[in-house]
Amino acid sequence: MSQAHENQPELDQQDVDRQQLRSQVQSLAQTYRDTNQPLAWFEALYASANGNPEAIPWVNREPHPLFQDWLTTRSPVATGRSALVIGCGLGDDAEVLADRGFQVTAFDLAPTAIAWCRERFPNSPVNYQVADLFDLPSDWAKHFDFVLEIYTIQAMPPELHTAAMQAIAPLVAPDGELLVICRGREETDPLTGPPFPLTRSQLATFEQAGLLLAEWDDLSDSEGLRPRHFRSLYRSN
Ligand SMILES: C[S@@+](CC[C@H](N)C(=O)[O-])C[C@H]1O[C@@H](n2cnc3c(N)ncnc32)[C@H](O)[C@@H]1O
Repeated sequence: MSQAHENQPELDQQDVDRQQLRSQVQSLAQTYRDTNQPLAWFEALYASANGNPEAIPWVNREPHPLFQDWLTTRSPVATGRSALVIGCGLGDDAEVLADRGFQVTAFDLAPTAIAWCRERFPNSPVNYQVADLFDLPSDWAKHFDFVLEIYTIQAMPPELHTAAMQAIAPLVAPDGELLVICRGREETDPLTGPPFPLTRSQLATFEQAGLLLAEWDDLSDSEGLRPRHFRSLYRSN
């Protein structure tokens, strides 16, 4: 390490590559936002990845560690229960729910992401669908016993966050649950992104939409995830 940097934490090459990828993705998202197509960059990114998962910053090819940890600890009843995965990306969280015995539907706005899921998991029981959170089939309302949202809201521009939460809450069936995992911030933290971390008061939209907060975890530097994360569970009544 050079003397000039001896008091700074060392970044390994993987961190540098990840930061570069994130800033490329941020400028892609901004380009589409500037032309009034704030969600079109997702398909553009998946398509330009050309089958290379390393080109997608949120892809780890395994379930999210905070979700995996929650599943292991809580061991939710799965038999005979339906689950819905919002903005499922490449499908790892949907697959682990199916492995546990849930009947899983998983959707994403990006057709390339859904085609990629089907290619990765050709024998999967998961019902993968191309769908837009803001234009879902009406028979999905109050239909799912377990709804999972990881990183979709925060990937959208902040002006869509409230509408996204208002679209997710009504999907939960009576006696059902919604688990949300996102990056977290204080109101006063600077807001740059994507991802645009959420505040605790923003997440209260789920309660205003009729769900009850059942669990709240504020997780900093846990599970090797350096940025602050919130993990919250809501129940319908
Ligand atoms: C940051 S990625 C997270 C993907 C996945 N949940 C994960 O954790 O790996 C956000 C995902 O949400 C999808 N998405 C964004 N807006 C959406 C919308 N309106 N309806 C459905 N999916 C959407 C994107 O295509 C992308 O796959």
